Parts: sequence; C-alpha cells; structure tokens
Amino acid sequence: MTDLPASGIHGHPHRRIDGRAKVLGTATYAFEQDVDAATYLYPLQATIARGRVRRIDTSAAEALDGVVAVLTHLNAPRLADTDDKEYAVCQSDEVAFRGQFIGAVVAETQEVARHAASLVSVEYDEQPHQVVLPDDDKGLDDPDEVNAGYPSDTAQGDVGAALADAERLVDETYSTPMEHNNPMEPHTSVAIWSAGSGDGDASLLLYDSTQGVHSVRRTLAPVLGLKPERIRVVSPYVGGGFGSKGLPHAHNVLVALAAQLTGGRPVKFALTRQQMFTLVGYRTPTIQRIRLAADGDGRLTGICHDVIEQTSRIKEFAEQTATATRMMYAAPNRRTSHRLARLDVPIPSWMRAPGEAPGMAGLEMAMDELAERCSLDPIELRVRNEPDIDPDSGKRWSGRHLVECFRTGAERFGWADRGEPGARRDGDWLVGLGVASSTYPAFTMRGSTAEIAYVDGRYVVRIGASDIGTGTWTTLSQIAAEALGVEVEGVRLELGDTDLPMATVEGGSSGMASWGSTVVAAVDAFRDRHGKDPEEGATARAETPEHADRKKYATHSFGAIFAEAAVHADTGEVRVRRMLGVFDVGRIVNPPTARSQLVGGMIFGLSMALFEHSVMDARTGHVVNHDFAEYHIPVNADIADLDAIWLDHEDTNANSLGAKGIGEIGTVGSPAAVANAVYNASGVRIRDLPITPDKLIAQSGSTKTGSPQSGHM
Ligand code: MOS
Repeated sequence: MTDLPASGIHGHPHRRIDGRAKVLGTATYAFEQDVDAATYLYPLQATIARGRVRRIDTSAAEALDGVVAVLTHLNAPRLADTDDKEYAVCQSDEVAFRGQFIGAVVAETQEVARHAASLVSVEYDEQPHQVVLPDDDKGLDDPDEVNAGYPSDTAQGDVGAALADAERLVDETYSTPMEHNNPMEPHTSVAIWSAGSGDGDASLLLYDSTQGVHSVRRTLAPVLGLKPERIRVVSPYVGGGFGSKGLPHAHNVLVALAAQLTGGRPVKFALTRQQMFTLVGYRTPTIQRIRLAADGDGRLTGICHDVIEQTSRIKEFAEQTATATRMMYAAPNRRTSHRLARLDVPIPSWMRAPGEAPGMAGLEMAMDELAERCSLDPIELRVRNEPDIDPDSGKRWSGRHLVECFRTGAERFGWADRGEPGARRDGDWLVGLGVASSTYPAFTMRGSTAEIAYVDGRYVVRIGASDIGTGTWTTLSQIAAEALGVEVEGVRLELGDTDLPMATVEGGSSGMASWGSTVVAAVDAFRDRHGKDPEEGATARAETPEHADRKKYATHSFGAIFAEAAVHADTGEVRVRRMLGVFDVGRIVNPPTARSQLVGGMIFGLSMALFEHSVMDARTGHVVNHDFAEYHIPVNADIADLDAIWLDHEDTNANSLGAKGIGEIGTVGSPAAVANAVYNASGVRIRDLPITPDKLIAQSGSTKTGSPQSGHM
C-alpha cells in the first residue's frame, strides 16, 4: 500500500483507510444514519438580540398535516442542570442573543417542519442590546483566567521603563474580526429517546457530528439528568469541525428535548449553513495593542501585548489571544493582558488555533514592523531574539528548531530575492515576500484508554476517538500496526462510539500524541500478557501513559511561514502566488495526511488574512453575511503554489510518541506571513484583518494609484 510518494523524513505514506467509503458515498455521516420512522426538526430562532418572549402562538403550525410536535419553553421537558446557559435550551422566555433557539417544530419531512416553523408567530418584549466590541476599555471585565487554564495577565520586569527607553519602538493596534467555522458537513444530530419503564432508566442514542463522542456524553448527561452510561453517542465519520464540533452546542440539547415528544421516534436535525452563523460558536473579534521595545541592534528589551475581545453575556469564553506572545521571543521585560466585553451576542467558541491564530497575527505583523524600524531582515530579527529557554515558564524547550525552519525555508523559497517595500513590479502587479513565525502548544492529553483484542487473526484496536477528516482512521491504524509489528491490514480500528473506551476530544492538535501513545501503551500491555502469538479472543487495555519527563519541558511546535503576494496596482486585489511552511512538529506518521493538515491550516490562515469577516449588524445583532455567497472563504482559484515540509526532529521529551501535533500550527503564522508579503509588495500596511482591496486603496493615496512610475500603489 506504499503507493504514494514520501514527502518527508518520517512516516510511511498510506492511503486513507476510509477513502474508498467516502468516495463511494457509503461512509455514514450522522444525518445519514438509517433509522426507523425518522422525523425532522426545524428550529425556531429569536429575532431580537435581547429581551423576552411575551407570546408564542403555535396553533397554525400544530394544525398543519405532518407536524408531529411543536416545542417551546412552555412545553419543553425540564432539564436537570441549567447552570451552563448555552445548554439551558427552551427553559425560560429569556432571549440572550439574536438567533437563539426559542423552540422547534418536528414533522414527517424537513420541508413540512420548515414550513410549519414559518407559521409560528412570536411577540417579544425587547430590551436594549450591545453587540459590537467597543474599542476602548470602559466596562470591560478582567477574566479570572483565559481558556486552557492560562492566567489572564502576566508581567515580568519593568515593561514601562523598557518602552520609555527604547531605541526602536513599535506601538500599534492590530485587529481581527469575528469569523465563523465553516466545515463542509454542517452540525447534525439524530436523537432517539427511550423513556424506559420507570425511574431513571430513560436513555438517549445520539448520532452526532462531533470531535469527541465521550465529551458529548459527559457534557450532556448532567444537563439531561441521565447517567452517562444511559447516553450513547455514535460518530464514525465527520466532515470537518475546526473546533466548532469540539463540544456539544445548543442544537444537541434541542434535538434531545424534541425526541422526548415523539413517542420514541428518531428526530433528525441538520443545521442550515445560515444557522451555523449563530449557534455553534465563532472566533471572537480582537483588538490588540502591541508594543515592542528594542535596542539599536534589534534586541527586544520589552514586549507588551494587551488584548480586548468579547464573550456572550450568558457564558464566558475567554480566548487565550496573547499566550503565544508569552513564550515566543526573549526580552527581560514583558506584559500581556486580556480584557473581555460581555455582549448580547452568540457564544464564541473554538476555531482552529483559538487564541494563537489571531494573537500571532498581531505579534508577527508587529515583528515585521520592528524589523523595518531596525533596518534588519525580518528573519535576522527573529534569530536575534530567539530565547534559550521558555521566557514565560523558565523551562527548557522539549525541542525548538525555529531558526532551522527559517533557514531551510529561506533557501527553498528564494528569500534572498526580497526587495524593499513596493520595489518589485510585474506588469500591473506589485509583488513582495513576507515571513512569519508560527507556534502551537504540543498538548498530550491524559485520560484515554485503548483496548487491543485478537479476533479472527487480526488485531482489533478499540478507542472512542474521532476522525473529523484529518486521517485518524489511517494514522491510528498505522501506529497500532507498527507497535504490533504487523501490516496495517492486520489491524482493525474501531472509533467514534461511546461504547468504545474513553478517549479525549479531537482538539488542541492533541489527537495523535494522546491517542497514539495510548494505543502504543495498550499494545505493550497486550504483548506483555499474551506474547507474540496470542490466542483467539485475547485482550488487554491501557490508559494514556504518564510521561515522566514532560513537566520539565516547555512543549511547543514551531514553524516558519513564507508567502509571496501580488497586489494589483489599480484595484488592490491580492493574489497569494506562493506559500511555504517549514514545520518543527516532531514525528510524522503519514506524510500525505500530515501534509494535508499543514497545507489546510495554511489555507485557513490565508483565508484569515484576506477573506474571512463576519459582519455584525449593530442594530439587530445579526451576522448579515451568513452564507457562502457573502462570507468569503478561498476557492481553488485563490490557492496557487502551496507547500509544507517538516524538519527531522522527533520530540520524545514532549511525549513517548515524539509527535507534537499538526492540526493548527499551519494556521497560526499564515495570516501575518500574507499580511507582511502584502506590505512588502505594496508598501501599504493594513493592521486590520482581513486585508481587502478597499482598505489597500484607501491607505495607498489616490495620487499614486495606478501610476506605472510609482513603486507603490
Ligand atoms: Mo481545535 S479549535 O482545538 O478543535
């Protein structure tokens, strides 16, 4: 099966085990599960941003042929735990954001459900709302901590003095917009409720499009008042998530409530693309003031990164925007902070490299500006500020080969050809090169269990992990096969079901490191107990091993991203002609799927640089561009010559497998690499993403626009 070319040093190329089923259409996604007597749900959504439902009239909907049930806060089953307001669906008349669920229609077909929903009339008592992130710090909250358990603020040394005494200074504000996860497969959930015969033996079967079946079960069990073992979540195939399927959202609760009103008939719910812009999370907008102080040689003396971002009024989501700045470069004086605006908006959530992607967009644009103010090559600036140890924790790096990434990439990309801003012209196009660092924490999550069984001459590997399209079906099979010393065909993997052993969520780029090391531990346990020649039916299991050394190290992945951008001198249109990512991500298991993750991440970052922007209407609390006609993501024509390569450094300090995670790091440095290339091409610095033609033209000055003599726009 090694019929794909190796493009890297580690790993063995292997075709996707699930590829054939996906191409043939036989891979069963959540909504396609063949259940008996299915009904279909269409939600009712609030049309105000804040207030109460005064009256809701469902009679016309209920009278319609084919309607099975209409759910509102008046008849919804009571939830056992409503502390988490995201999940307290239809438990009161309160409306906390526009688009929030206020009910649902369940019908024999999707069409009838949708039509019936349009017949429900609702009256509201509306209250004033605020839905736009303010750009001053009045009335902002200081969160106790930011996501992933990081402190909200950090400070070392005297950053004020460093800024006051700086020979070279950058003091700029960078902003990133609200953005929405748009996996190809929408969020879908099929709920089958069994009332049982009496006290406490109700149960729920959920076919769900999720990044973690066990996380869904564990989160929903207390909300629904069921013991975890009374909920089964099944999710063999998932068409992307990017973090938006990393936790259950309100739609899971809504479908579980509705399934209690159908007499046991399954309820199928697929969100529309437009509904996804309200109900499954999004990337918070950020406003980042970044101050970099340096001496005349470009050595940083102070780093200061102050972030304003938003959360919803009903649930705190405090993104860790400035955490990468804490560990990225050496400087004796440092400060970072996060402040939160609580708004009447949908609840922000995870979106690929939540925190690191917007935060490094700001920092790496600022580094590009500092390089210019120091008259230094941007790569040389970063080399001069390379820290020997993690400046935040004081720990040694488990492995940090960022400079090697830059050197390797510079050579391959032709970095030496980079000129002064606005100096290179190709017909009507201004052409330039840009670079940025990338980083992402190397997480290994404990708490998974894998089981190995020897059945019919094959090794069955059982773990309740997920494959959201990343290649886990294949890579985890490869890991097991290698540890067992058999061909991949000698392994049969089972995943995506809570009937399988506990596994952590597919998030934080932690899947391979966490589940892979668990599978290897289970293989070791199996061989210890049963040897090389096991009896039919032999089994063994193991939990994620403790990696004793890990705590001694700061564990991160690194990368250098290069971009070549062409900016049209008249229209401000931007074309990214080439991108190269060089990554220090530890062990690679399967080069083709790894490359797909890294390149896909870079496309995600390019999209952040140039396209993505959810436009919130301050008057209504509505994201007005809530579809693919107006929320722009790249298409093939936007993606030219993209490549990702990796260095030859396993990181066994980070975990026993030596793998550091590849799902998010491609996204982190790419927005700044593109923005810096646009600056080098045009001489115009846009600090507010996305970099759209209107912004470039507005800043370029009309006198120069289109002039063939001018190097600038
Ligand atoms: Mo990813 S945003 O950690 O699911």
